[in-house]
Amino acid sequence: MKKLLLGALALVVVGAGIFLYAADGGFGKQLSAPTGKSFVNEVPENWETHKQAKMAARDAHIIKHQTAYNRFADFAESESDGLPYIILKLLPVIAPEYWGEGDDFLSVMGLFYDERLPGAPVPRGMGFSGLARENPTGNIDYASFSCGACHIGRVRLDDGKMYYLDGGANSEFNVVGYRKRVVQTIDKIAGAETDPKKRADLVIQKILTTLDQVHSTNPSYFYKNFTYENRNFDTAYEQAQIDLFKKTASTTIPQFINHHENEYHGWEKFVDKYYQGAQPQLLDGLPGMEDAIGFNTVKANANLKQNPLTKPFASLALPPSHGVTDIMAVWEQHTHDPLWNADKTDVIDGGGQWTGHIPLPIYKNIAAQLTIGYENVDVRVSAFAEEVLDKMPASVYPFDVDVNLAKKGQALFAENCAACHQPHNGKVYQNIGTDMGRAKIAGVFVTLGAISGFTSVCDADTVVQMYGKDVKPCAEYKGVSLEGKKSLAMTPPKLHEGYNALPLVGLWAQAPYLHNGSIPTLYHLLVPGERPAVFVKSRLDYDKKLIGFAWSVDDSSSNKYGRKKEGYIFDTRLAPAMNNQGHDKDIQQDGKTFKLNWADDKEGAFAIIEYLKTL
Ligand code: HEC
Ligand code: HEC
Repeated sequence: MKKLLLGALALVVVGAGIFLYAADGGFGKQLSAPTGKSFVNEVPENWETHKQAKMAARDAHIIKHQTAYNRFADFAESESDGLPYIILKLLPVIAPEYWGEGDDFLSVMGLFYDERLPGAPVPRGMGFSGLARENPTGNIDYASFSCGACHIGRVRLDDGKMYYLDGGANSEFNVVGYRKRVVQTIDKIAGAETDPKKRADLVIQKILTTLDQVHSTNPSYFYKNFTYENRNFDTAYEQAQIDLFKKTASTTIPQFINHHENEYHGWEKFVDKYYQGAQPQLLDGLPGMEDAIGFNTVKANANLKQNPLTKPFASLALPPSHGVTDIMAVWEQHTHDPLWNADKTDVIDGGGQWTGHIPLPIYKNIAAQLTIGYENVDVRVSAFAEEVLDKMPASVYPFDVDVNLAKKGQALFAENCAACHQPHNGKVYQNIGTDMGRAKIAGVFVTLGAISGFTSVCDADTVVQMYGKDVKPCAEYKGVSLEGKKSLAMTPPKLHEGYNALPLVGLWAQAPYLHNGSIPTLYHLLVPGERPAVFVKSRLDYDKKLIGFAWSVDDSSSNKYGRKKEGYIFDTRLAPAMNNQGHDKDIQQDGKTFKLNWADDKEGAFAIIEYLKTL
């Protein structure tokens, strides 16, 4: 009921909003690129010393902000949403063919055990609410993806060791793959039974008997006696959770079934509408990237359809076209956080997301919590994430750099690239020629829905507890009150039909490139004629020559769409939103020509690439 009311309310707001947004007023008008001297990083004289210093700075930053880092890396998005933790842990027992076993659990969908967190009962990126809940026996634990699921990645070094990318992108994570497997597991248990009540009974029975089986042979099966911060998830904790779970199973298990089935079956319909010809891939999920429209839009559409009053407007909740989005790196947020304008009524010169349309850091984070489909989100996660991501040093390139070549590249970069790729450049570029799908998904309705969604989760008066104190994380930005400035939570769509030229910090680790992850290496970006239409994504080996993760189809052990060993085949021709065009023609701007196609000067291209390694 609450959702329906919200839907109806949203429509009233939309009426007023369309008028407002269509008029030429509104916030966020000043989107010109900063003028004056462009910012170019100096190549360090000694790469090895610089590398060590940057690694040390990254470690020091994390230690200094350990509490905040933990909430970003490991905490659940919600105390009451996601799936019951006990069910999660039973999935690989019930259906090992979908989930993998032992340490492989969840690796099939791209989550991994991080050696830096020994003894963890689930891979990094899967949080559970017991880490945060005040009263240990106050509720059952729910599991949901932490920010780290998508924003802690890794790359394999020459000696086979993993180098972790805190605040980078997890190129393997496949959120749709998770949802699909949950539904497959439910189907495996319930078989051909179609009656919802009987289906639920079968699932309840299976879960409870499996629970007893595993627990009777191992009293610390679920939590592995894990200790985290000052909490100990010992056998007593485990027993208390099991007791509570059993008590609530008759309601929580049907909820779990409904939630996951609705979500995935809604997704199937959506994929049929937007991804004709690419349904098998989209239904399996695309590791390392996502459909940009997101599950919450699909949900909003479904909610509006449920009420005769709002039904005619349901399609407004859907964007005009589809868009895909590569997971972004989130480190060094300060390089493109916006500034206040002179009279402090508007934020300018910066922004978040590929299009820059969410300017304020706290709302970038809240958007992340909501778009993944959780409700009742724990705002503290966003507030702590804001603390740790601001100024979090990007992971430095872990291999060698030819300093002299990089210096040549620095000059070419200053000449051809720096005018666009610089800190605090809030301008969106419409002349780059990349697919516009992602830039167009947040139309008026989606934007207004987002503003109301974000600010109902957190507005100027919202209070949370951080470090034992009451804090208002959405009350101000850079010392200026946000009271009465809700519309800054997401700026008008017409200002964001294009893409930001980001400052490229930690660029080496952000392959594949462009907002849609359609170009495997920096070489292919600069020499557009050689861009492969088909390549392998989500491998952990690194191509030190062309700069990007190993990508060649020839040396992969994967086959058609599925994930076999490492990586999967990505075909840029599958849907318009995945095409690898753009950023491929020289550009005239402000009376200057910027060279974007380096096919006729590969020496120059390799010099630029050498420089880009150092960012
Ligand atoms: C399921 C994967 C996923 C999870 C989980 C996730 N993100 Fe993201 N994040 C993305 C993607 C994809 C983008 C790019 C979105 C776009 O613009 O289309 C992004 C973008 C961002 C950005 C904007 C970066 C920039 O420089 O503009 C921030 C900040 C961010 N995420 C923070 C978070 C935080 C904080 C969390 C946890 C609360 C989180 N994310 C959880 C996938 C994820
Ligand atoms: C006219 C402005 C402009 C110029 C000049 C320009 N770029 Fe870009 N660049 C962009 C925009 C806009 C995007 C985002 C396009 C997208 O994602 O669809 C981009 C994207 C990129 C990306 C992908 C970033 C990522 O995270 O995937 C790289 C790398 C890049 N540019 C490098 C360069 C280099 C190197 C040069 C100079 C040879 C250059 N750019 C010149 C505007 C520019």
